[in-house]
Amino acid sequence: MLSLEEVRPAVFVLSHPLVQTKLTLMRDVNTHHREFRNLAQEVATALAWAALRDVHVTQRPVQTPLATTTGYELADKIGLVPILRAGLGLVDGVLSVVPNASVWPVGIYRDEETLQPVTYYEKLPETMPISLCLVLDPMLATGGSAAAAISLVKSRGVKRVKYVGLVGAPEGVEFVHSQHPDVEIYLAALDDHLTPPPQKPGDPPAGYIVPGLGDAGDRLFGT
Ligand code: PRP
Ligand code: URA
Repeated sequence: MLSLEEVRPAVFVLSHPLVQTKLTLMRDVNTHHREFRNLAQEVATALAWAALRDVHVTQRPVQTPLATTTGYELADKIGLVPILRAGLGLVDGVLSVVPNASVWPVGIYRDEETLQPVTYYEKLPETMPISLCLVLDPMLATGGSAAAAISLVKSRGVKRVKYVGLVGAPEGVEFVHSQHPDVEIYLAALDDHLTPPPQKPGDPPAGYIVPGLGDAGDRLFGT
């Protein structure tokens, strides 16, 4: 039992109570980046089990100490595309579930003024030799970065793409699905809204997820 809730069509939240306790620690402003990083990997592992629940396997015989029986081996070729830099914080957690996956990071940052995604690094092969791709990024805010990364992966011939993140905003899931209705989204939480443009000094910058967990890249890397 995965405690996976389909909160909107093709948007799944992992409501497992232990995942929620770990996410709570990540939200806590007093959590040190060393612990934050460990927690991100642990939650990523749980999300990977959920996102890969329909992975293709083939049967193979296996000899136990007592008998021969039918077992399974992975048939899908899986690729991970973490969005730099915060997506790196999920890679090891996902690799603990699928250690043979290939990893192709792409560099996308969000322009602070326009909130539009800017791609600054991508070396994806012309044809990606995989049957399933997980795009990884902890934060799905406006959804611009995720949609841009998914478009890149699809442009290299990958038909099955899923997004795995920690926290999403309603605006982000709507935007991704407007661009990529076929892409399933896996999250540990779907939060309330995004911060509006600041009105006065001291207001948070625009486009942050509320309640969220702040700047995921800064919190992962201690910057
Ligand atoms: C953050 C986050 C996502 C993006 C989400 O990255 O890791 O990539 O913002 O926002 P969006 O859904 O509105 O596109 P950021 O641009 O801060 O770069 P960083 O990971 O290098 O810090
Ligand atoms: N990027 C982050 O790291 N956090 C947010 O809340 C939004 C974008």
